[in-house]
Amino acid sequence: MNLRIFLAAILACAFCRAEVKTPPQLNKNRAEVLSFFAKNVYGKMPEASFVREAKVIKTEKVPEFSATRKIVRINTLTPLGEKAFNAVCYFPDGFEKTPVFIYISFRPSTETANSRWPIAEILARGASTVSFCYEDVLKDKADVLSCIERKDDSWGAISAWAFAASRVVDYLETESLADASKIAIVGHSRLGKTALWAGANDKRFAMTVANNSGCFGARLHSRNLYGESIERITNFFPHWFAPNAGKLWSGKDYSLPFDQHWLVAAVSPRLMAIGSALDDWWACPPGEMACWEYSAPAWKDRSCINYHVRPGEHELTSVDWKEYLDFAARNKWFSAK
Ligand code: GCU
Repeated sequence: MNLRIFLAAILACAFCRAEVKTPPQLNKNRAEVLSFFAKNVYGKMPEASFVREAKVIKTEKVPEFSATRKIVRINTLTPLGEKAFNAVCYFPDGFEKTPVFIYISFRPSTETANSRWPIAEILARGASTVSFCYEDVLKDKADVLSCIERKDDSWGAISAWAFAASRVVDYLETESLADASKIAIVGHSRLGKTALWAGANDKRFAMTVANNSGCFGARLHSRNLYGESIERITNFFPHWFAPNAGKLWSGKDYSLPFDQHWLVAAVSPRLMAIGSALDDWWACPPGEMACWEYSAPAWKDRSCINYHVRPGEHELTSVDWKEYLDFAARNKWFSAK
């Protein structure tokens, strides 16, 4: 990490610390933490039964990637009922079972070339990658849930997208080309919040990546210097959360009885990576760094939680992907270089 950036972040944290109280103690009980966040922030994921189905609808060779591409139609549940979405999967040739990086995408699943999803770089490590478009699961519109009656703890879009990511894992557990013990969930920004919530809830994610995830992602509310507040996020994006999130916490960012490091700690002892960008003031990189710092004691092995900050804007770049792939490599995920 660039020393100048690191020092700037430390200084910002130190400055911030003088202004606000210490975040609440790290709560070690994972089950309690998850039910707290389900009830009071993101909304409860359903226990209702539905048709769990994943059908491979197309399999083809992709010579330019030396890979096999499979399109899988997966059924999930959303607050608006059952929904089927496509996941696009790339498995590198010449490997029996490979680790898998699931990338939740902003872009339509029909689009492959995408700077936020470096398929070739991932495959070159001897890993597979799967992507699905979040809006194929539930539209990202403030009024998308206005047509239904919502309880204070009803699930919002972040829970619905995270639930869908777990349905991708259901499929991967049946896929002979996938090593289901090494599945990573990767998301950027609102989808970084989603990846964190998915990774905290579903232990089948062996690695969780929250890139520039900001408010209600891997960033402490109590260390927010100048970025997005709870009031702003719950007013602009009410559909992302349970109604409780705005009702209970709006305006209370610096006096909450919890903070986001609890949720990050719920990922332990599995692998966790938090990524910031220096100019991403809205997400507040010092608050993301502080979230790493305060959650890290939950890991006995500190090499299992990674933090990086790169120069530049709010984005998921090849620099970030390299960091995440190197982190996986250090934890012995790949047999290829
Ligand atoms: C908005 C929102 C952020 C979110 C971001 C994104 O800026 O306020 O919370 O992370 O969109 O998803 O790009």
